Parts: sequence; structure tokens; C-alpha cells
Amino acid sequence: MSKIKRIGILTSGGDAPGMNAAIRAVVRATIYNGCEAYGIYDGYEGLIKGNMVRMSSHDVSNIIQRGGTILKTARSAEFRTTEGRSKAHEQLKEKGIDALVVIGGDGTFTGARLFGQEHDIPIVGIPGTIDNDLYGTDYTIGYDTAVNTVVEAVDKIRDTASAHNRLFFIEVMGRDAGFIALRAAVATGAEGVLVPEVETDLDELFSYLENDYKPHKSSGIVIVAEGEKSGGAYTIAESVAKRHPEYDIRVTVLGHIQRGGSPSGFDRVTASRLGAAAVDALMDDQKSIMVGIVNNEIVHVPFNRTIKQAKPLNRSLLNLINILSI
Ligand code: F6P
Repeated sequence: MSKIKRIGILTSGGDAPGMNAAIRAVVRATIYNGCEAYGIYDGYEGLIKGNMVRMSSHDVSNIIQRGGTILKTARSAEFRTTEGRSKAHEQLKEKGIDALVVIGGDGTFTGARLFGQEHDIPIVGIPGTIDNDLYGTDYTIGYDTAVNTVVEAVDKIRDTASAHNRLFFIEVMGRDAGFIALRAAVATGAEGVLVPEVETDLDELFSYLENDYKPHKSSGIVIVAEGEKSGGAYTIAESVAKRHPEYDIRVTVLGHIQRGGSPSGFDRVTASRLGAAAVDALMDDQKSIMVGIVNNEIVHVPFNRTIKQAKPLNRSLLNLINILSI
């Protein structure tokens, strides 16, 4: 039998659709295991301030389908300091909370790892970020929904691009990673995709436009990840416009629309599985790990590994774009 009696749960960093489904799963699995669940508001900021309440099963009713996070989220500068983390520990002691589940990305797990080490608190992380850029899990909560949002938007832009014979550069989120861009590009039949993981070769883009695009197509879509290294969608569009003044070029930045909305069925199931798995892991005396999904099975990945290792892009999908965009 585990000694854990009270589990705190928080969401931190950028929100992602499906975080509520994960909160629901953690709260209910905690209660199912005979423990008490405490919701901590505003991420680590709320932990430092003691902004937390006990949650019943009913408190998480009717949220599985909602975007955002009922616990709110924040990026806490104070939690990056040892003093801030000590204050947070005092709050946990005062409330008798003996374990934590944190939902977020890289930054969230970096804080969790330090906090767990300094104060010997068992912490389990759930990957929640639309960017899907966490090593050790095939999917992060919110990624599938964000891709679907992008696909819906790009399909609409495709209609107007085709009507006006225009070439669109569409910027999607992904500060450091091209997962959203790549999957959305395949799903929308994009003519090209530019991601931070691969250096943009403008000559290659020009050669495609001159040899494949121009002779066969009157309109097109190039998806550009926000973190693309040569300056993003506007800069690339400018370079193309200079070389090809005959193209009618437009740029659309999809922005935070990608972070909201009702989670997809896939994200709801992933979040529910990971939420229950996180509580299971704590009951099993695990600590400083992220629960993830690999090949449809739950896995445990030490914080250390997921923080330090970069998740590789699926290069065969990149190649697929080249094959299918002729
Ligand atoms: O959640 C990750 C992410 O969507 C990145 O792709 C993006 O750069 C960032 O968040 C923007 O977040 P914010 O506007 O909250 O700083």
C-alpha cells in the first residue's frame, strides 16, 4: 500500500486542448484509489501562493469536452528559484499534500524535477502541449486537436487560394518543433513544409516552384512552422516574391486559434489514459517520471531523459511531402 494520501494536480506552461480531460482523469483516479485530490490553480504560481482546493468527483463533471484548463495555467519565474520552490514546499506541507501530478511540457518538467529532488516529493508528469515536442511519448495531449484545427483552417484557405490563383505561406505554431507543421502539411496536401529541424534551402524551394509548381499548378500552400530558422513565413514569402514577382502571394499566421477548442476524441482518450496512468504510477511509488504513450502502450520516462533528449521528426513524412506535391 502506498503512503500517499493527498495528490495535488496542476497545469503549467501553454494550455492545450485535452488538459481538462486529464485533470478529470487524475481527480477521479485519485479518489478511486482512496486518496484525496487537490486542484492547484495557476500552475506553479498557485502552488507558491497556496492557491489550491480539494476536488470532488463532481467538480470535474462536464469538462472532458472543454478546451483550456479549469485550473488555469501560468509560467512562473519565481518557481525557477530555490526560494520559490521552498515556498511551494511549505504550502504542500501545510495542506498535507504528499504527491503531485503536473501537466505541461519541457519547462513544467524541468521545474518538477528540481522540486522533487530538493524536497523529496514524488511527482509524475503528463505531457500536455500542442507542439508534441516531448521525447519519450508518441503523442502529447493537445497535438491532435491542434493539427485538426490547422487542417480545417488550411482547407478554407485552399478554397480562396485556388479561386484567386494565389500562393499562400501559412505559419503554424511550433516555437522549437515542426510536428504540427509536418502532420498538417501531409493532411492538407500542402505543396511544401518548412520546419525548424531542417535548414531551409531557398534554392530548393525556388527549384520546386520553377520546375514542379509553375508548370502544373495555379495555386499552392506552403506550411511554415513558427520556429523555422530563416525568419518565418513573412521573410520567406518576401524572398519568393522578389524572385517571382509574377506570383500572387499571401501570408496567414494562424496563431492562438491552435491552442483552443474542444479536444478531439483522440486527445480525450489519450488524456484519460495518461491521467489514470499518472495516479497508478504514484500508487506504485514512482517519482520524477513522465507517463507517455509509445506504440499505444503506457510508458514511464524519467524527467531527466524527456527534458534532455530531443524528439526526432518523422523524416519519412517530410519525404512524403516531396513525393506527393508534384
Ligand atoms: O504551447 C506551445 C506554444 O504553442 C508554442 O508553439 C508557441 O510558440 C507558444 O506556445 C506561444 O505561447 P504563448 O503565446 O503563451 O507565449
